[in-house]
Amino acid sequence: MPMPTEGWVAGPGGPLRGSVRVPGDKSISHRAVMLGALAEGTTRVRGFLEGEDTRATVRVFEQLGVRIETPNASERVIHGVGLHGLQGSGAALECGNAGTGMRLLAGLLAAQPFDSLLIGDASLSSRPMHRVIEPLSAMGARIDAETGGLPPLRIHGGRLLHGIDYATPVASAQVKSALLLAGLFAQGETVVREPHPTRDYTERMLSAFGWPIVFAPGVVRLSGGHVLRATDVDVPADFSSAAFLVVAATIVPGSDLLIEAVGMSPRRTGLLRVLRAMGADIETVEPREHSGEPVADLRVRHAALHGVEVPGYIVPDMIDEFPALFVAAAAARGATVIRGAGELRVKESDRIATMVAGLRSLGIVIEEAADGAVINGGRFGGGTIDSHGDHRIAMSFAVAAQLARSEVRINDVANVTTSFPDFVSTATAAGLALRNA
Ligand code: S3P
Repeated sequence: MPMPTEGWVAGPGGPLRGSVRVPGDKSISHRAVMLGALAEGTTRVRGFLEGEDTRATVRVFEQLGVRIETPNASERVIHGVGLHGLQGSGAALECGNAGTGMRLLAGLLAAQPFDSLLIGDASLSSRPMHRVIEPLSAMGARIDAETGGLPPLRIHGGRLLHGIDYATPVASAQVKSALLLAGLFAQGETVVREPHPTRDYTERMLSAFGWPIVFAPGVVRLSGGHVLRATDVDVPADFSSAAFLVVAATIVPGSDLLIEAVGMSPRRTGLLRVLRAMGADIETVEPREHSGEPVADLRVRHAALHGVEVPGYIVPDMIDEFPALFVAAAAARGATVIRGAGELRVKESDRIATMVAGLRSLGIVIEEAADGAVINGGRFGGGTIDSHGDHRIAMSFAVAAQLARSEVRINDVANVTTSFPDFVSTATAAGLALRNA
Protein backbone atom coordinates (compact mmCIF):
# COMPACT_ATOMS: atom_id res chain seq x y z
CA MET A 1 0.00 0.00 0.00
CA PRO A 2 1.57 3.37 -0.95
CA MET A 3 2.20 5.93 1.77
CA PRO A 4 -0.39 8.68 1.76
CA THR A 5 1.28 11.87 0.58
CA GLU A 6 0.28 15.47 0.76
CA GLY A 7 0.93 16.40 -2.85
CA TRP A 8 1.67 15.35 -6.40
CA VAL A 9 3.51 16.85 -9.30
CA ALA A 10 1.81 15.91 -12.57
CA GLY A 11 2.39 16.30 -16.30
CA PRO A 12 2.98 17.19 -18.95
CA GLY A 13 2.86 13.63 -20.26
CA GLY A 14 2.75 11.46 -23.35
CA PRO A 15 0.34 8.78 -24.56
CA LEU A 16 -1.34 6.13 -22.41
CA ARG A 17 -0.67 2.59 -23.60
CA GLY A 18 -1.07 -1.05 -22.60
CA SER A 19 -3.65 -2.46 -20.24
CA VAL A 20 -4.51 -1.71 -16.62
CA ARG A 21 -6.87 -2.80 -13.88
CA VAL A 22 -8.45 -0.40 -11.44
CA PRO A 23 -9.65 -1.33 -7.92
CA GLY A 24 -12.99 -2.80 -6.91
CA ASP A 25 -16.24 -0.88 -6.91
CA LYS A 26 -16.71 1.26 -3.80
CA SER A 27 -20.51 1.16 -3.76
CA ILE A 28 -20.65 -2.62 -4.15
CA SER A 29 -17.86 -3.19 -1.60
CA HIS A 30 -19.72 -1.20 1.11
CA ARG A 31 -22.94 -3.07 0.44
CA ALA A 32 -21.29 -6.52 0.38
CA VAL A 33 -19.95 -5.94 3.89
CA MET A 34 -23.30 -4.70 5.17
CA LEU A 35 -25.42 -7.51 3.72
CA GLY A 36 -22.77 -10.14 4.50
CA ALA A 37 -22.83 -9.02 8.13
CA LEU A 38 -26.63 -9.30 8.36
CA ALA A 39 -26.81 -12.61 6.50
CA GLU A 40 -26.96 -16.14 7.82
CA GLY A 41 -23.78 -17.94 6.80
CA THR A 42 -20.42 -16.94 5.40
CA THR A 43 -20.01 -14.44 2.56
CA ARG A 44 -16.76 -14.30 0.57
CA VAL A 45 -16.14 -11.00 -1.20
CA ARG A 46 -13.59 -10.99 -4.03
CA GLY A 47 -12.32 -7.82 -5.64
CA PHE A 48 -13.11 -5.86 -2.45
CA LEU A 49 -11.92 -2.24 -2.61
CA GLU A 50 -8.97 -1.84 -0.22
CA GLY A 51 -9.80 1.83 0.17
CA GLU A 52 -10.15 3.86 3.36
CA ASP A 53 -13.92 4.30 2.89
CA THR A 54 -14.72 0.62 2.61
CA ARG A 55 -12.19 -0.38 5.28
CA ALA A 56 -13.95 2.01 7.63
CA THR A 57 -17.20 0.11 6.98
CA VAL A 58 -15.43 -3.18 7.78
CA ARG A 59 -14.15 -1.73 11.07
CA VAL A 60 -17.65 -0.51 11.98
CA PHE A 61 -19.10 -4.03 11.58
CA GLU A 62 -16.22 -5.53 13.55
CA GLN A 63 -17.12 -3.08 16.33
CA LEU A 64 -20.72 -4.32 16.04
CA GLY A 65 -19.58 -7.88 16.73
CA VAL A 66 -19.10 -9.30 13.20
CA ARG A 67 -16.02 -11.43 12.50
CA ILE A 68 -14.45 -10.42 9.19
CA GLU A 69 -11.31 -12.08 7.87
CA THR A 70 -8.88 -10.89 5.21
CA PRO A 71 -7.45 -14.08 3.65
CA ASN A 72 -5.80 -12.03 0.90
CA ALA A 73 -5.69 -8.41 -0.11
CA SER A 74 -8.95 -7.46 -1.87
CA GLU A 75 -10.77 -10.35 -0.27
CA ARG A 76 -12.98 -10.48 2.82
CA VAL A 77 -14.73 -13.38 4.48
CA ILE A 78 -17.67 -12.15 6.51
CA HIS A 79 -19.19 -14.38 9.16
CA GLY A 80 -22.77 -13.14 9.12
CA VAL A 81 -24.58 -12.76 12.45
CA GLY A 82 -28.10 -12.78 10.99
CA LEU A 83 -30.59 -9.94 10.84
CA HIS A 84 -30.82 -9.58 14.62
CA GLY A 85 -27.27 -10.50 15.63
CA LEU A 86 -25.46 -7.14 15.74
CA GLN A 87 -24.23 -5.93 19.14
CA GLY A 88 -24.05 -2.28 20.13
CA SER A 89 -20.69 -0.60 20.53
CA GLY A 90 -19.93 1.74 23.41
CA ALA A 91 -17.49 3.58 21.15
CA ALA A 92 -18.26 5.93 18.26
CA LEU A 93 -18.49 4.33 14.82
CA GLU A 94 -16.00 6.10 12.53
CA CYS A 95 -17.12 6.38 8.88
CA GLY A 96 -14.10 8.43 7.78
CA ASN A 97 -14.74 10.24 4.49
CA ALA A 98 -17.60 7.96 3.40
CA GLY A 99 -21.04 9.42 2.78
CA THR A 100 -22.22 6.01 1.58
CA GLY A 101 -20.99 4.38 4.78
CA MET A 102 -22.68 6.89 7.07
CA ARG A 103 -26.01 7.21 5.25
CA LEU A 104 -26.53 3.48 4.72
CA LEU A 105 -25.49 2.74 8.29
CA ALA A 106 -27.97 5.34 9.54
CA GLY A 107 -30.79 3.30 8.01
CA LEU A 108 -29.50 -0.03 9.23
CA LEU A 109 -28.70 1.16 12.77
CA ALA A 110 -31.98 3.07 13.22
CA ALA A 111 -33.67 -0.34 13.46
CA GLN A 112 -31.36 -1.91 16.07
CA PRO A 113 -32.17 -2.44 19.74
CA PHE A 114 -29.05 -0.44 20.77
CA ASP A 115 -27.91 3.19 20.46
CA SER A 116 -25.14 4.17 18.02
CA LEU A 117 -22.99 7.22 17.37
CA LEU A 118 -21.79 7.77 13.77
CA ILE A 119 -18.90 10.16 13.21
CA GLY A 120 -16.81 11.17 10.18
CA ASP A 121 -13.88 13.31 9.06
CA ALA A 122 -14.08 17.07 8.44
CA SER A 123 -15.53 16.67 4.92
CA LEU A 124 -18.18 14.13 5.94
CA SER A 125 -19.03 16.26 8.98
CA SER A 126 -20.16 19.03 6.65
CA ARG A 127 -22.39 16.86 4.44
CA PRO A 128 -26.20 16.92 4.71
CA MET A 129 -27.79 14.07 6.63
CA HIS A 130 -31.29 15.54 6.81
CA ARG A 131 -32.09 13.69 3.57
CA VAL A 132 -31.92 10.37 5.45
CA ILE A 133 -33.00 11.59 8.90
CA GLU A 134 -36.33 12.94 7.65
CA PRO A 135 -37.65 9.77 5.95
CA LEU A 136 -36.15 7.46 8.59
CA SER A 137 -37.95 9.52 11.25
CA ALA A 138 -41.17 9.06 9.28
CA MET A 139 -40.54 5.30 9.62
CA GLY A 140 -40.34 5.74 13.40
CA ALA A 141 -36.57 6.19 13.87
CA ARG A 142 -35.04 8.70 16.27
CA ILE A 143 -31.82 10.30 15.06
CA ASP A 144 -30.21 13.44 16.48
CA ALA A 145 -27.78 15.46 14.37
CA GLU A 146 -25.86 18.69 14.82
CA THR A 147 -27.44 21.98 13.79
CA GLY A 148 -28.24 21.94 10.06
CA GLY A 149 -28.62 18.15 10.00
CA LEU A 150 -24.87 17.52 10.09
CA PRO A 151 -22.93 14.61 11.60
CA PRO A 152 -22.24 13.25 14.17
CA LEU A 153 -25.47 11.22 14.16
CA ARG A 154 -26.83 9.91 17.44
CA ILE A 155 -29.11 7.02 16.62
CA HIS A 156 -31.51 5.89 19.31
CA GLY A 157 -32.12 2.16 19.42
CA GLY A 158 -35.17 0.18 20.44
CA ARG A 159 -37.55 1.88 18.00
CA LEU A 160 -40.18 -0.11 16.17
CA LEU A 161 -40.02 0.92 12.50
CA HIS A 162 -42.85 0.75 10.01
CA GLY A 163 -42.62 0.88 6.22
CA ILE A 164 -43.45 4.08 4.33
CA ASP A 165 -44.08 5.02 0.71
CA TYR A 166 -41.52 7.74 0.08
CA ALA A 167 -40.73 9.87 -2.96
CA THR A 168 -37.14 11.12 -2.60
CA PRO A 169 -36.81 14.82 -3.46
CA VAL A 170 -33.20 14.26 -4.69
CA ALA A 171 -32.11 11.38 -6.89
CA SER A 172 -29.87 9.59 -4.37
CA ALA A 173 -28.92 5.94 -4.16
CA GLN A 174 -27.68 6.56 -0.65
CA VAL A 175 -31.07 7.80 0.55
CA LYS A 176 -32.88 4.98 -1.24
CA SER A 177 -30.49 2.40 0.22
CA ALA A 178 -30.77 3.77 3.77
CA LEU A 179 -34.55 3.36 3.59
CA LEU A 180 -34.32 -0.14 2.11
CA LEU A 181 -31.92 -1.26 4.86
CA ALA A 182 -34.26 0.15 7.52
CA GLY A 183 -37.13 -1.50 5.64
CA LEU A 184 -35.60 -4.95 6.23
CA PHE A 185 -36.48 -4.50 9.90
CA ALA A 186 -39.72 -2.55 9.48
CA GLN A 187 -43.28 -3.74 9.77
CA GLY A 188 -45.08 -3.69 6.43
CA GLU A 189 -43.91 -2.46 3.07
CA THR A 190 -41.26 0.14 2.29
CA VAL A 191 -41.56 1.82 -1.11
CA VAL A 192 -39.01 4.29 -2.49
CA ARG A 193 -39.73 6.38 -5.59
CA GLU A 194 -37.01 8.46 -7.24
CA PRO A 195 -37.19 11.50 -9.52
CA HIS A 196 -34.52 9.84 -11.74
CA PRO A 197 -33.35 6.22 -11.41
CA THR A 198 -30.11 5.82 -9.43
CA ARG A 199 -27.65 2.94 -9.03
CA ASP A 200 -29.51 -0.21 -8.00
CA TYR A 201 -26.77 -2.21 -6.27
CA THR A 202 -28.67 -2.47 -2.98
CA GLU A 203 -31.71 -3.86 -4.76
CA ARG A 204 -29.71 -6.36 -6.80
CA MET A 205 -27.63 -7.49 -3.87
CA LEU A 206 -30.64 -7.91 -1.58
CA SER A 207 -32.16 -10.09 -4.25
CA ALA A 208 -28.91 -12.11 -4.57
CA PHE A 209 -28.99 -12.61 -0.77
CA GLY A 210 -32.49 -14.08 -1.16
CA TRP A 211 -34.62 -11.15 0.06
CA PRO A 212 -37.89 -10.72 -1.87
CA ILE A 213 -37.75 -7.32 -3.56
CA VAL A 214 -39.48 -5.78 -6.56
CA PHE A 215 -37.70 -3.04 -8.46
CA ALA A 216 -37.74 -1.18 -11.74
CA PRO A 217 -35.94 2.02 -12.68
CA GLY A 218 -37.30 4.72 -10.35
CA VAL A 219 -39.30 2.57 -7.91
CA VAL A 220 -38.49 -0.21 -5.45
CA ARG A 221 -40.52 -2.03 -2.82
CA LEU A 222 -39.75 -4.59 -0.14
CA SER A 223 -41.27 -5.84 3.11
CA GLY A 224 -39.68 -6.70 6.44
CA GLY A 225 -39.55 -10.10 8.05
CA HIS A 226 -37.43 -12.22 5.72
CA VAL A 227 -33.92 -13.69 5.96
CA LEU A 228 -30.68 -12.80 4.17
CA ARG A 229 -28.72 -15.87 3.08
CA ALA A 230 -24.97 -15.52 2.58
CA THR A 231 -23.70 -15.61 -0.97
CA ASP A 232 -20.34 -14.88 -2.57
CA VAL A 233 -19.83 -11.49 -4.20
CA ASP A 234 -17.42 -10.80 -7.10
CA VAL A 235 -16.87 -7.05 -7.12
CA PRO A 236 -16.20 -5.55 -10.58
CA ALA A 237 -13.67 -2.75 -11.07
CA ASP A 238 -15.07 0.65 -10.19
CA PHE A 239 -16.25 2.58 -13.25
CA SER A 240 -15.67 5.81 -11.34
CA SER A 241 -11.98 4.96 -10.91
CA ALA A 242 -11.70 3.85 -14.54
CA ALA A 243 -13.22 7.20 -15.59
CA PHE A 244 -9.99 9.12 -14.93
CA LEU A 245 -8.06 6.85 -17.26
CA VAL A 246 -10.84 6.90 -19.85
CA VAL A 247 -10.63 10.70 -19.98
CA ALA A 248 -6.81 10.69 -19.91
CA ALA A 249 -6.55 8.24 -22.84
CA THR A 250 -9.18 10.21 -24.75
CA ILE A 251 -7.50 13.60 -24.44
CA VAL A 252 -3.79 12.68 -24.70
CA PRO A 253 -2.74 12.28 -28.36
CA GLY A 254 -1.41 8.86 -29.38
CA SER A 255 -3.14 6.97 -26.55
CA ASP A 256 -4.54 3.45 -26.90
CA LEU A 257 -5.38 1.96 -23.49
CA LEU A 258 -7.30 -1.11 -22.33
CA ILE A 259 -8.98 -0.96 -18.92
CA GLU A 260 -9.98 -4.45 -17.77
CA ALA A 261 -13.19 -5.82 -16.24
CA VAL A 262 -14.94 -2.54 -15.50
CA GLY A 263 -18.43 -2.50 -13.95
CA MET A 264 -20.82 -1.29 -16.67
CA SER A 265 -24.10 -0.70 -14.87
CA PRO A 266 -26.09 1.77 -17.01
CA ARG A 267 -26.75 3.70 -13.79
CA ARG A 268 -22.99 4.41 -13.57
CA THR A 269 -21.80 4.81 -17.15
CA GLY A 270 -23.44 8.06 -18.23
CA LEU A 271 -19.95 9.51 -18.78
CA LEU A 272 -19.37 7.09 -21.66
CA ARG A 273 -22.53 8.31 -23.37
CA VAL A 274 -21.51 11.95 -22.95
CA LEU A 275 -17.90 11.38 -24.06
CA ARG A 276 -19.06 9.48 -27.13
CA ALA A 277 -21.38 12.35 -27.99
CA MET A 278 -18.30 14.61 -27.71
CA GLY A 279 -16.46 12.43 -30.25
CA ALA A 280 -14.59 9.97 -27.99
CA ASP A 281 -13.41 6.60 -29.32
CA ILE A 282 -14.30 4.12 -26.57
CA GLU A 283 -14.88 0.50 -27.47
CA THR A 284 -16.69 -1.89 -25.14
CA VAL A 285 -14.79 -5.18 -25.42
CA GLU A 286 -16.16 -8.59 -24.35
CA PRO A 287 -19.24 -7.55 -22.39
CA ARG A 288 -19.98 -10.21 -19.73
CA GLU A 289 -21.43 -10.65 -16.22
CA HIS A 290 -19.79 -10.94 -12.78
CA SER A 291 -22.14 -11.79 -9.92
CA GLY A 292 -25.06 -10.54 -12.01
CA GLU A 293 -23.40 -7.16 -12.78
CA PRO A 294 -22.50 -6.22 -16.37
CA VAL A 295 -18.72 -5.96 -16.87
CA ALA A 296 -16.55 -5.20 -19.92
CA ASP A 297 -13.05 -4.18 -20.91
CA LEU A 298 -12.82 -0.65 -22.24
CA ARG A 299 -10.48 0.15 -25.13
CA VAL A 300 -9.92 3.90 -25.29
CA ARG A 301 -8.09 5.64 -28.12
CA HIS A 302 -7.29 9.31 -28.39
CA ALA A 303 -9.90 11.40 -30.17
CA ALA A 304 -10.52 15.11 -30.68
CA LEU A 305 -13.50 16.19 -28.57
CA HIS A 306 -16.09 18.91 -29.11
CA GLY A 307 -18.32 20.54 -26.51
CA VAL A 308 -21.88 19.35 -25.86
CA GLU A 309 -24.87 20.20 -23.73
CA VAL A 310 -25.13 17.53 -21.03
CA PRO A 311 -28.80 16.53 -20.67
CA GLY A 312 -30.12 16.88 -17.10
CA TYR A 313 -31.63 13.39 -17.02
CA ILE A 314 -28.19 11.82 -17.35
CA VAL A 315 -26.76 13.53 -14.24
CA PRO A 316 -27.48 10.69 -11.75
CA ASP A 317 -25.88 8.16 -14.15
CA MET A 318 -22.58 10.04 -13.93
CA ILE A 319 -22.86 11.86 -10.62
CA ASP A 320 -19.31 10.95 -9.53
CA GLU A 321 -17.77 11.59 -12.98
CA PHE A 322 -18.30 15.35 -13.29
CA PRO A 323 -14.78 16.29 -12.16
CA ALA A 324 -13.41 14.06 -14.95
CA LEU A 325 -15.96 15.46 -17.42
CA PHE A 326 -14.95 19.05 -16.55
CA VAL A 327 -11.41 18.12 -17.61
CA ALA A 328 -12.57 16.49 -20.86
CA ALA A 329 -14.72 19.57 -21.59
CA ALA A 330 -11.78 21.91 -20.94
CA ALA A 331 -9.75 19.89 -23.47
CA ALA A 332 -12.54 19.93 -26.08
CA ARG A 333 -13.24 22.40 -28.88
CA GLY A 334 -16.10 24.77 -28.03
CA ALA A 335 -18.33 25.00 -24.97
CA THR A 336 -19.79 22.27 -22.77
CA VAL A 337 -22.90 23.17 -20.78
CA ILE A 338 -23.71 21.41 -17.52
CA ARG A 339 -26.98 22.14 -15.69
CA GLY A 340 -29.14 20.33 -13.16
CA ALA A 341 -26.10 19.09 -11.25
CA GLY A 342 -26.52 21.03 -7.98
CA GLU A 343 -25.87 17.80 -6.03
CA LEU A 344 -22.19 18.29 -6.92
CA ARG A 345 -22.08 21.03 -4.30
CA VAL A 346 -22.59 18.53 -1.45
CA LYS A 347 -20.11 15.82 -2.44
CA GLU A 348 -16.71 15.25 -0.76
CA SER A 349 -16.12 18.91 -1.65
CA ASP A 350 -18.24 21.48 -3.47
CA ARG A 351 -17.23 19.98 -6.81
CA ILE A 352 -18.55 22.84 -8.92
CA ALA A 353 -16.54 25.40 -6.93
CA THR A 354 -13.37 23.28 -6.69
CA MET A 355 -13.35 22.41 -10.41
CA VAL A 356 -14.12 25.98 -11.47
CA ALA A 357 -11.35 27.39 -9.26
CA GLY A 358 -8.82 24.77 -10.35
CA LEU A 359 -9.54 25.02 -14.07
CA ARG A 360 -9.47 28.83 -13.93
CA SER A 361 -6.09 28.73 -12.25
CA LEU A 362 -4.82 26.66 -15.20
CA GLY A 363 -6.17 29.29 -17.62
CA ILE A 364 -9.50 27.77 -18.70
CA VAL A 365 -12.43 30.13 -19.24
CA ILE A 366 -15.41 28.83 -17.29
CA GLU A 367 -18.67 30.29 -16.05
CA GLU A 368 -20.02 29.00 -12.77
CA ALA A 369 -23.74 28.42 -12.19
CA ALA A 370 -25.59 27.32 -9.06
CA ASP A 371 -26.25 23.91 -10.61
CA GLY A 372 -23.43 23.51 -13.11
CA ALA A 373 -21.05 25.43 -15.36
CA VAL A 374 -20.26 26.40 -18.92
CA ILE A 375 -16.75 25.20 -19.74
CA ASN A 376 -14.94 26.67 -22.74
CA GLY A 377 -12.30 24.41 -24.19
CA GLY A 378 -8.77 25.80 -24.13
CA ARG A 379 -5.15 25.00 -23.26
CA PHE A 380 -4.07 24.12 -19.75
CA GLY A 381 -1.19 26.10 -18.28
CA GLY A 382 0.87 24.90 -15.33
CA GLY A 383 0.07 25.93 -11.77
CA THR A 384 -0.92 24.77 -8.32
CA ILE A 385 -4.25 23.14 -7.49
CA ASP A 386 -5.91 22.71 -4.12
CA SER A 387 -7.98 19.53 -4.23
CA HIS A 388 -9.77 20.45 -0.97
CA GLY A 389 -9.12 16.92 0.24
CA ASP A 390 -11.41 15.51 -2.46
CA HIS A 391 -10.06 12.32 -4.08
CA ARG A 392 -11.83 12.83 -7.38
CA ILE A 393 -10.69 16.44 -7.72
CA ALA A 394 -7.06 15.40 -7.16
CA MET A 395 -7.24 12.61 -9.77
CA SER A 396 -9.01 14.83 -12.30
CA PHE A 397 -6.26 17.44 -12.20
CA ALA A 398 -3.60 14.74 -12.52
CA VAL A 399 -5.32 13.95 -15.83
CA ALA A 400 -5.62 17.60 -16.93
CA ALA A 401 -1.92 18.10 -16.17
CA GLN A 402 -0.95 15.64 -18.90
CA LEU A 403 -1.90 18.25 -21.49
CA ALA A 404 -0.52 21.24 -19.57
CA ARG A 405 2.24 23.49 -20.89
CA SER A 406 4.23 22.91 -17.69
CA GLU A 407 4.01 20.94 -14.44
CA VAL A 408 0.94 21.08 -12.23
CA ARG A 409 1.30 20.72 -8.47
CA ILE A 410 -1.74 19.20 -6.77
CA ASN A 411 -2.03 19.66 -3.00
CA ASP A 412 -4.00 17.75 -0.36
CA VAL A 413 -4.19 14.39 -2.12
CA ALA A 414 -4.11 12.00 0.87
CA ASN A 415 -7.82 11.19 0.48
CA VAL A 416 -7.19 9.48 -2.85
CA THR A 417 -6.70 6.41 -0.63
CA THR A 418 -10.47 6.45 0.05
CA SER A 419 -11.29 5.11 -3.42
CA PHE A 420 -8.11 4.46 -5.44
CA PRO A 421 -5.15 3.77 -3.15
CA ASP A 422 -2.82 2.71 -5.98
CA PHE A 423 -3.70 5.58 -8.29
CA VAL A 424 -0.13 6.85 -8.72
CA SER A 425 1.32 3.43 -9.63
CA THR A 426 -1.64 2.43 -11.85
CA ALA A 427 -1.72 5.78 -13.64
CA THR A 428 2.05 5.89 -14.17
CA ALA A 429 1.97 2.28 -15.48
CA ALA A 430 -0.56 3.51 -18.06
CA GLY A 431 1.79 6.37 -19.00
CA LEU A 432 0.71 9.35 -16.91
CA ALA A 433 3.49 11.69 -15.80
CA LEU A 434 2.77 11.79 -12.06
CA ARG A 435 4.83 11.59 -8.90
CA ASN A 436 4.49 12.08 -5.17
CA ALA A 437 6.16 15.28 -4.03
C1 S3P B 1 -23.32 6.24 -3.88
C2 S3P B 1 -24.28 7.12 -4.34
C3 S3P B 1 -23.96 8.47 -4.82
C4 S3P B 1 -22.50 8.62 -5.17
C5 S3P B 1 -21.59 8.05 -4.12
C6 S3P B 1 -21.88 6.58 -3.91
C7 S3P B 1 -23.74 4.93 -3.38
O1 S3P B 1 -24.29 9.40 -3.81
O2 S3P B 1 -22.19 9.99 -5.36
O3 S3P B 1 -20.24 8.20 -4.48
O4 S3P B 1 -22.89 4.04 -3.21
O5 S3P B 1 -24.95 4.75 -3.14
P1 S3P B 1 -25.77 10.04 -3.68
O6 S3P B 1 -26.72 8.96 -3.34
O7 S3P B 1 -25.64 11.05 -2.58
O8 S3P B 1 -26.03 10.67 -5.01
